[in-house]
Amino acid sequence: MSGNRKVRLAILGSGRGSNFTAIADACAAGQLAAELAVVLTDVADSGILRLAHERGIKSQFIPPGKFRTKLDDEAESAFVEALDETQVDWIVLAGFMRILKGEFLRAFPNRVLNIHPSLLPSFPGLEAWTQALEYGVKVTGCTVHIVDQGVDTGPILGQRTVPVMDDDTPALLYARIQQAENLLYPEVLQALATGRLVIHGRRSVAVEEMVSKQNCLEI
Ligand code: GRF
Repeated sequence: MSGNRKVRLAILGSGRGSNFTAIADACAAGQLAAELAVVLTDVADSGILRLAHERGIKSQFIPPGKFRTKLDDEAESAFVEALDETQVDWIVLAGFMRILKGEFLRAFPNRVLNIHPSLLPSFPGLEAWTQALEYGVKVTGCTVHIVDQGVDTGPILGQRTVPVMDDDTPALLYARIQQAENLLYPEVLQALATGRLVIHGRRSVAVEEMVSKQNCLEI
C-alpha cells in the first residue's frame, strides 16, 4: 500500500448488508485502519445500497445484465471501471451473489476477498448453514478467503467457529454464523490493512510468526 494514505476498500454486495455495517462501524470506531471508498451492488433495492446511502458512502447500482448467476461482459466491465476510477486497494465481497471470473479477477489479482458462511473447504456453495445442519456437524463457522477462479476455493485468510446446537433451525444457525462473520471480516481486513498477513502458497501467515518471508506473496 502506498505512502501514508489509508487502505481503500470497495464493498460489493447484493443483500442485507450486515457485513457492510460491521466493516463501516469498525472504520468509524478506528478499529479498522481503512476507508470505505465505494459500495457497488447488482441489486437496485438491496439493503446494502440503502445503508450506504444513509451513511453518505459513495455507492452505485450497476445492472448485472442478462445472466442469473454471473455478470455479463458489459456489466463486468462497468464494475471494473467503477473500481478503477475509485482507486481501491481491496475488493470486499459481502453477499455479492454473482460469480466473478476471468476479466474481473485478472484486473485485481489477489485483491478480491470473500466471506463464506462455513468452515471451508466444508460446504462451499449455496446455503452452507443448511448443508452443515443436514450433514450433522457439531461445529461450523465462517471463512474469509481470497477469491480465485473456483467457487469458494481461494487461500484462506481467517476463520471463526460457531457451535451447532441440537435444536438449531437453519435460520437460528445462520444468524449465529452471521454474528461471527461480522466480527471476523473487520479483523481480517485490519490484519491486511496493517500488513500483518502474507500468503505463502495456499497458507496465509501472520507476519510476526514468519521465520522467513522468502517466496511469500506480500498482500
Ligand atoms: C453472508 O452470510 C456471507 O457469508 C454470504 O452472504 C451473506 C451476506 O450477508 N456470502 P450480509 O448482506 O452481509 O448481511
